[in-house]
Amino acid sequence: MRVVVATGNRGKLRELAALLVPLGVELVPQSDFGIEPPPETGATFLENALIKARHAARITQLPAIADDSGLEVDALGGAPGVHSARFAGESASDAENNEKLLGALASVPHEKRTARYRAVIVFVSGPNDLMPLIGEGAWEGHIGLAPRGAGGFGYDPLFEPAGSTGTAAELTPAAKNAVSHRGAALRALLARWPR
Ligand code: IMP
Repeated sequence: MRVVVATGNRGKLRELAALLVPLGVELVPQSDFGIEPPPETGATFLENALIKARHAARITQLPAIADDSGLEVDALGGAPGVHSARFAGESASDAENNEKLLGALASVPHEKRTARYRAVIVFVSGPNDLMPLIGEGAWEGHIGLAPRGAGGFGYDPLFEPAGSTGTAAELTPAAKNAVSHRGAALRALLARWPR
């Protein structure tokens, strides 16, 4: 089976491709079809994941998988949430988003910098699938005081997973996938995969 991966985010694509190996499907990034990401107009991770998967499935007439994810920071009332990719502006870089986050938390002590990543992953068998498969996952942690590590992507240099002394950007790709929100969401989705 060929499945379109509805993301243009290279960090996500890398992690999803590693996590999807057990399915034995052929994954094709939507960029191979020249698909531009649709506007993410949903209010929730689930709505946005469905928008992206259906958009890719409609254009390719193939099954599609999409991840919508983000960071919820308690001291910021859950922000940046669904706006995580564009926290510092429409085409903000990861470094700009991290800088904005550090600024927003400048006066917040470490023990109050609790946060979690969330991911929702959906699979649609085609553009008119009425029963998409859905998996969700969360990863608890803290926002650090300064960036550390060169792995992962996005907010990983600032995200200190609960129970760890380092950041998500200091984990190997396999170690991150084993404990991350994305890994958990994918495993939940695979548990519902028809066999
Ligand atoms: P989306 O493409 O709207 O789902 O954007 C998700 C955004 O959330 C990314 O661009 C990152 O800023 C952030 N994010 C989601 N998952 C991760 C992760 O595993 N590590 C770091 N940042 C993440």
